[in-house]
Amino acid sequence: MWDYTEKVMDFFLHPRNVGEIKDADGVGEVGNIVCGDAMKLYLKIAPDGKTIVDAKFQTFGCASAIASASALTEMLKGKTLEDAAKLTNQDIADFLGDLPEEKMHCSVMGSEAFQAALKDLAKKRPDLNVPVPTTPEEGEDRVVCQCFNVTEAEIRNVVKTNHLTTVEQVTYYTKAGGGCGGCKDDIQKILDDILGKKSGDGGEAAPKPLTNLQKIALIQDVFDSIIRPGLKADGGDAELIDINGDQVVVKLTGKCAGCASALQTLKHWVEAKLREKVSAAINVVEQK
Ligand code: FES
Repeated sequence: MWDYTEKVMDFFLHPRNVGEIKDADGVGEVGNIVCGDAMKLYLKIAPDGKTIVDAKFQTFGCASAIASASALTEMLKGKTLEDAAKLTNQDIADFLGDLPEEKMHCSVMGSEAFQAALKDLAKKRPDLNVPVPTTPEEGEDRVVCQCFNVTEAEIRNVVKTNHLTTVEQVTYYTKAGGGCGGCKDDIQKILDDILGKKSGDGGEAAPKPLTNLQKIALIQDVFDSIIRPGLKADGGDAELIDINGDQVVVKLTGKCAGCASALQTLKHWVEAKLREKVSAAINVVEQK
């Protein structure tokens, strides 16, 4: 059984905005029932041409897919197209008070359904000046994961938006790599490209591994120069309590202490930054 927040359970058991909008202005459909998850999102735009007055969804998926779609429609209603276009999958997870990392692909499916609905809206209503998502760079629309039909552009987008550093995380966020596994080397190459590493034979020699002292000093430095200033900007703070191999013990303080999104802050900000700057093996745990 997954460890869902109360809000996820509420939005799953009492889903908001389920159904179809017959005269929708924009419709976005993503996923594939054969692969296990699919979502269709309907948007209705106000006569002012700027505000989303209604949003409904139909989905074939698990509890977190239903909760994510339900949350997304609640977030969209009443927003201007301009503001709504800035929403990311992380905003959906935040709204729900976090999703298990293994289920983040449900939030990604929600944001992709919305992007598809925006594209459809732009096509049907060229008069509206819809903020259309950028089209993939040449060649990035190739399918990397045949099992789940995931393109390179989708992987790149999710890695950048969510600061992912490992193939396992890419699988959690997109499902790519979660079937036969034949695409994992390709996903690693995309990650290496984004993170600025060399991969494969013939690349530059791997950097010398850090000594324990170097690793501790680097973690402290990243903690003081990047992580704490980021938390302080939102009224929070954190203390570095201990470092034991790759395990980093952190205590959240200020507004972050006891916050409903504490786990998410630890994983998606503190851990993600340490993985990016120090080592992909870092695991951050909270001291309450
Ligand atoms: S091709 Fe990606 S898991 Fe099979």
